[in-house]
Amino acid sequence: MADVKIVEVGPRDGLQNISQIVPTGTKIELIRKLARTELPVIEATSFVSPKWIPQLADGAGVLQSIQSVMTSRPKIQFPVLVPNVIGLEKANQNGAREVAVFVSATEGFSKKNINCSVAESLVRVRHVTKRAQELGIKVRGYEIRYVSCIFEDPYEGVTDSDQVVNVTQALLDAGCYEVSLGDTLGVGTPADVEKLFTKLLRTIPAAAVAGHFHDTYGQALANVVKAYELGIRTFDSSIAGLGGCPFAKGAKGNLSTEDLVYTLEKLGVSTGVNLNELVKIGTWISQQLGIPNGSRAGSAIAAK
Ligand code: HMG
Ligand code: MG
Repeated sequence: MADVKIVEVGPRDGLQNISQIVPTGTKIELIRKLARTELPVIEATSFVSPKWIPQLADGAGVLQSIQSVMTSRPKIQFPVLVPNVIGLEKANQNGAREVAVFVSATEGFSKKNINCSVAESLVRVRHVTKRAQELGIKVRGYEIRYVSCIFEDPYEGVTDSDQVVNVTQALLDAGCYEVSLGDTLGVGTPADVEKLFTKLLRTIPAAAVAGHFHDTYGQALANVVKAYELGIRTFDSSIAGLGGCPFAKGAKGNLSTEDLVYTLEKLGVSTGVNLNELVKIGTWISQQLGIPNGSRAGSAIAAK
């Protein structure tokens, strides 16, 4: 039994930020390989506007092709990211059993990322949640929620922590079972995590919160450890540290799954995930993409 839940976001959050268009077959192979490592959640793709994110325009093909993996591994969740009801309908038509929605805690990033205000995005979320229930897409246990830019917005500066708490609560009220808090710019430090999460956890249960840390400033693992100390048990990460967010300048570098698993296991926290298999996959996908492996632990173990 794992002590923590790791949400692998590489196939979506990772590949959405690769400038080249990755072949659909490579995406499918990546998900198949990841499913063999016992990761409990693998975010497979997104159903957003292909004009905004052309890298994931093949979401339908990816989702259709992994149906057999989803059936053979019923314990693994394969959420897909949707920004609105249009995306939800497409996800449903192509076999999604779980969806993830996302809103920003800040106006500037909300406008840039999904072309609407925070308030409008929360209305969209409620529409998605309601429609998901009608479609029989289970909400509880399958949805991941993101609050982007929890510490700083690239367009507006420092994020108001009250706004993070309010948006998180609004997502839970809309029916989300879990809200993943994303430090999209990767600027947060353990001191920021302590301040924000301590405030948030006064009113929101730790079991409903996940940490999504980026490594832009090399703070992601330290932030995980701090969040773990504060009671958080769900963490997002990306194989080989792929990705970031295309609408957050300089925000390359999701926390790598290999580094996350290495650190947690060394702390005596069981992840339930096979690190050696992860390392092979991180090496493989980096070679496929022709980019350096963004995982420190992965690169070191692979070089042994
Ligand atoms: P918009 O242009 O304002 O949309 O985009 P619209 O409602 O005016 O519609 C324009 C056209 O898009 C219409 O088609 C719609 O049908 C179509 P047309 O009539 O012109 O032919 N459309 C869609 N097509 C496919 N799928 C859809 C969809 N919706 C509308 N779902 C919209 C608004 C939200 C669609 C757009 O801004 C968008 O897709 N944004 C997504 C951006 C994105 O994916 N960002 C990355 C994910 S967030 C992230 O990475 C951060 C996170 O990982 C956390 C972290 O790392 O910290 C979560
Ligand atoms: Mg991310």
